[in-house]
Amino acid sequence: MRENIDTGAEFRGKGYWAVILGGSSGFGLATAKRLAQAGLNILIGHKDKEGTVETVIKPHFEAIRAAGVQLVTHNVNLFDEDGRGEVFESVAEHAGKGKVHLFMHSVAAGACKLLAEDRTPDFKGQALRALCEALKAQGVTASAEQLKAAVNQAFHEKGADALHTLADSRIPYKEQLLSDEDLQKTVWMMGYDYLLWGRELQREGLLSPDARLVAMTSEGNEVAWKGYAAVSAAKCALEACCRAMALELAPYGARSYVVQAGITDTPAGNAIPNFDLMKAAARLRNPFHRLTTPEDVAEAIHQLCLPGFSWSNGTLIRVDGGEAVSGT
Ligand SMILES: NC(=O)c1ccc[n+]([C@@H]2O[C@H](COP(=O)([O-])OP(=O)(O)OC[C@H]3O[C@@H](n4cnc5c(N)ncnc54)[C@H](O)[C@@H]3O)[C@@H](O)[C@H]2O)c1
Repeated sequence: MRENIDTGAEFRGKGYWAVILGGSSGFGLATAKRLAQAGLNILIGHKDKEGTVETVIKPHFEAIRAAGVQLVTHNVNLFDEDGRGEVFESVAEHAGKGKVHLFMHSVAAGACKLLAEDRTPDFKGQALRALCEALKAQGVTASAEQLKAAVNQAFHEKGADALHTLADSRIPYKEQLLSDEDLQKTVWMMGYDYLLWGRELQREGLLSPDARLVAMTSEGNEVAWKGYAAVSAAKCALEACCRAMALELAPYGARSYVVQAGITDTPAGNAIPNFDLMKAAARLRNPFHRLTTPEDVAEAIHQLCLPGFSWSNGTLIRVDGGEAVSGT
């Protein structure tokens, strides 16, 4: 009989660790909680306001400790040398040689800005004016402003997702356009930083003999969303890095994956312009008519950490209920 098969605590007592960058929220936090249940010790790097740590994050960290594993956390900027060094040294000190079974890069730190001023034609105004005229023909008088207010109320307050093409987003585009620096930093932080960490962990002998390296991508890797250019470029770099890591780190036993989550309600998601409209569209289009949750992704990452999931490497794994392939 396989050890611990019924408890789901496959790693308990083995002294292995999961190192999760961006582990205080969204996919990173959900994965930390799931893997703690499976018996992995957890080391998290994150950057949050102290107030948020006290009121929102601490109870989650307590839940991880309550699973009976070690938890080490560092609230630092992972993109300055001191913060980075602190987390890396902590991995060496707490996990030690050969004990990092999962490395996950789930940091959301990119610039979501337009590259040129928005010149979308006024399709919404046109549709509302046409609706006014159609109503008038039926003896109902309403101005375009009244209809717009009604549409926004029905969409934002009554969950009328089907109105997403007419409603106004409450997450507007930023006034500043994307700069060279925004592009460079985003491609680093959300693109090749995954490779830099994976390589350093391998070089220092910290990875387990069959470690899993995982980073997060999105459907914006292939399609263009307005205001997402820098992150989209980063995702393409990330996926190239994943393939290179799969090839060059395999001799050391490591497997590398990018997980493509469907649209998920997280703080980083809600910083993307029009994300409220995108969530509505995703609920309509998804074959299961719901958003992806961080827990859906955590469950998948738990599965790919297991010994039996070992022959996938260098690949993109969609965890989205079929959202990306749905054409409706
Ligand atoms: N939300 C979605 O719909 C969605 C879908 C697919 C992929 N993704 C990707 O998933 C990843 C995680 O996003 P999320 O939605 O879970 O976001 P989130 O906002 O829930 O979490 C982001 C994490 O990054 C950390 N972080 C941000 N800047 C940091 C810095 N400078 N130093 C250290 N830590 C920092 C935060 O502390 C937090 O732990 C991102 O790569 C994102 O592009 C998101």
